[in-house]
Parts: sequence; C-alpha cells; structure tokens
Amino acid sequence: MEKFVKLIYDDKSFEFPLIKGSQNEKAIDIKNLRKETGLITLDPGYKNSGSCKSEITFLDGEKGVLKYRGYSIEDLAKKSSFLEVSYLLIFGNLPTKDQLSKFKTDIDNESIIDEDLKVILKSFPKSSHPMGILASLTSALTAFNPTALDIKSEDEMYKAIVMIMAKFPILCAWTQRKVKGLPLNYSDISISYIENITKMFFKKPNQEYRNNKIINSAIDKLLILHADHEQNCSTSTVRIVGSSYAGLFASISAGISALWGRLHGGANQAVIEMLENIKADGGDISRYLKKAKDKNDPFRLMGFGHRVYKNFDPRARIIKKTADEVLSKLGIDDPVLDIAKNLEKIALKDSYFVDRKLYPNVDFYSGIIYRALGIPTEMFTVMFALGRLPGWIAQWKEMRENFEPIGRPRQIFIGSVDRDYSSIETR
Ligand code: CMC
Repeated sequence: MEKFVKLIYDDKSFEFPLIKGSQNEKAIDIKNLRKETGLITLDPGYKNSGSCKSEITFLDGEKGVLKYRGYSIEDLAKKSSFLEVSYLLIFGNLPTKDQLSKFKTDIDNESIIDEDLKVILKSFPKSSHPMGILASLTSALTAFNPTALDIKSEDEMYKAIVMIMAKFPILCAWTQRKVKGLPLNYSDISISYIENITKMFFKKPNQEYRNNKIINSAIDKLLILHADHEQNCSTSTVRIVGSSYAGLFASISAGISALWGRLHGGANQAVIEMLENIKADGGDISRYLKKAKDKNDPFRLMGFGHRVYKNFDPRARIIKKTADEVLSKLGIDDPVLDIAKNLEKIALKDSYFVDRKLYPNVDFYSGIIYRALGIPTEMFTVMFALGRLPGWIAQWKEMRENFEPIGRPRQIFIGSVDRDYSSIETR
C-alpha cells in the first residue's frame, strides 16, 4: 500500500507520496508540491534533496558502505579490473569474457585522436593547470567526433561510450606529457587497458617501456575506487548539463571543471600541498589543526570530511592500506605518509572532528600513492577524472534513458523590488 507524508500549511492538509529505495532509503516525492501548495523547498547545497532515482551506486554514509550495482567496493577493488568495473557501471552487469573482450577491441579501434587536437594542446602554456587543459580537450573532442546522439539507438549510445573510453585516457596522458615536456604518444592496443594507460603516461622517448606490475595494479585499484560515487558535485553537473541535451563529451567536460575544485576532486592535490607545508613547518600538526578549527580562518583540513560519509570513507581505508603496500614494494620512504598518519591519529581523537564526524576521505592518502608512482601533484585530479569517467558515462546514460526533465532549480528571490532607472549622470 502506498504511504503518504502529510503537510499542513495554511490550515489545509496535503499528502505527498513516500518513496522507498531498494535499501529502504526514504524520500518525500514533492513533484506536485508547488502545483498543489504554491510552495517550493529551499535546500542550499542540496543537503536533503534527491535529484533522481538511480540504479548505479549505493552508499550508506552512516555505516561507511559503498556498492557499485550491488557489488561491494572492497570486493571490486580486490578482485576486479577497472575496465570490468567500467562495463559494470555503464551497462549494469559484470561482463562475460566475450563481452569484455569485445568492449576492449571496440575501445582499441577508437583509440586514436585527430592530429589537429595536438594544435590545441600545443597552444596551452606549459604552466596551465592540467584540469583546465583536460576540460578543454574533452570539449574539443566534440568538434572532431560529432556525436549528435540518437538516444533511442543502442548502437549510437554504445559507439559514443566506446569513443570516450578510448580517447579520454589518451587526453589524460597527453596532458601529463605536455606538463612534463614529453612527446605525445599513442595507445598500444596490444596490451591491457591499464597497461596501455601507464605506458602512455610514463614511456620515455629514449628507452623501451617496461610494464611494472606494482604500478599497474595500484593505478587499476585507484581508478576502481574513484569510478563512481552517486550524485556528487561533478556527477550532478554531468547529469544537469546533459539534461539540456548537451552531448556526452560536452557534459563530461563540464564534470571535469566541477571536479577541479578543492572541495571536490581538487582535494587530492590540496592534501599533498598541505602535508608538504606541515613538513616544511617542521611537522607542526597542531598548528594546522588549530587553523582548521578556527571559524575565522578559511583553512580546512584537506582530505577530511564528507557530505555523505559520517563514518570512515570505505575508499580511504583501502587506499591507506594500498599506500603502505605500494611504498614498501617500490622501496620508497615518504615522510609525508608518516605526517598524514599522525595527522589522522590526532584529528580522530580531537573533539572538533569527533563531534562533527569528520573522517579521512578518498583524497587523504591517494596523492601519496600517485606521487610514489611519479605523477606530478597537479596531475592528481586528472587521475581522479580518469577514474570517474565510467561513473559520469553511466549516470549520463541513465539520465538520458530515463528521459529526465531538464535540471532547473527554483529560487527564493531576496533582491530589490521595483527600482526606478536613473541615467548615469544622476547616479
Ligand atoms: N576541516 C575543518 N572543518 C571541517 C572540515 C574540514 N575538512 N569539513 C567539514 N568541517 C566542519 C565545518 O566547518 C562544519 O562545522 P560547523 O558545523 O561548526 O559549521 C561541519 O564540519 C560540517 O561541514 P560542512 O561544510 O557543513 O559539510 P559539507 O557536507 O558541506 O562539506 C566537504 C563537505 C567535503 C566539502 C567538507 O568536509 C570539506 O571541505 N572537506 C575538505 C575538502 C575535501 O577533503 N574534499 C574532498 C571530499 S571527498 C572526495 C570528493 O568528493 O571529491
């Protein structure tokens, strides 16, 4: 039996349906709220607002649970590969051997980029931030691969997905190579999706590239952990941009810009910069904790806190363990890892962080691994984008296939009312 939530306003009683998710999450369906009552809801930052129903990712912030299509993040990080997880997120099920092999072959066939795109890349100064370059190149892809997609055509949808899965890693690698001043290279389709990514990123022009299993497996795991996170800022951006019928590449380019900010994906770069500053200050953690707690200081402890997790971010647990393993296997002793661990230990005992349920998030330890793998600090958020790609695709696809209406919030206007225009001479 359908349940309702009662709203009493102006002495009248209204009923709105109660919606339940498959994990018993509950929401009030307010689709008809304005029509029936004349009211809208006000929820800055959408802290209480669901924007869609989705079958892709579930997370329970109170319990620290994250699942893609019903599979736990712990299982996927341990047993799966990034390409397989991408398929799972985008198409809904883990692929069979044949499906995965076809997906890889189709991606391989699309893994070339129009040479003219290099002209655009060349015109960026080397000092440009990689996220700015990546957003521009991704948007420019549209010019070279027109994809006025017929949403009802499975073939066209598949082709667009394969194209972006093939071309995006090349753009990410080219962005790093541009920053490092290395020649731009192409995909090697004779090796796995991940091996090819690491080769494109790290191959030096004067020597053969030898695949490194430790690096490949670390990157594979990090990409899986970043692959989707339901309606976060960049994903919501991708969905809302796509809801105007902007194409897949344009929507993803917008998502990259949203991810760039320090409160979202840009936090991974900000964490390392913060840890480096603490190191340069002689390891004075307490000074930074004090700053983070001071309401008159805009500084926040980067890599801490989350809109949804009010418990450990399960991704952070896995990444912390992986950081230990990778550094030890590569024989790297990074003092910044010790600072990070100490900072976490002290913060988790501090009532400010305890009371507000602020725990390390996915970005707290990831930069330490990227750095150990030889990825420049400014490239960290590009790595996040590379991982988030299948999530953005899956969410865009779901939004278009469900024919969701254009995203267009309302507002409460609090500005001036009816002002008389005065000429510039009299102002
Ligand atoms: N350092 C110090 N205080 C914090 C922090 C922090 N990192 N995060 C939250 N708080 C405080 C905040 O000041 C507020 O205190 P009060 O209740 O006294 O006003 C309280 O905790 C609740 O915070 P909020 O700002 O209302 O929470 P939010 O859900 O709007 O923000 C957040 C979430 C992730 C933007 C925030 O925790 C933050 O700025 N963290 C640092 C940046 C970061 O690590 N971002 C990566 C997020 S995870 C990966 C991703 O999404 O890309």
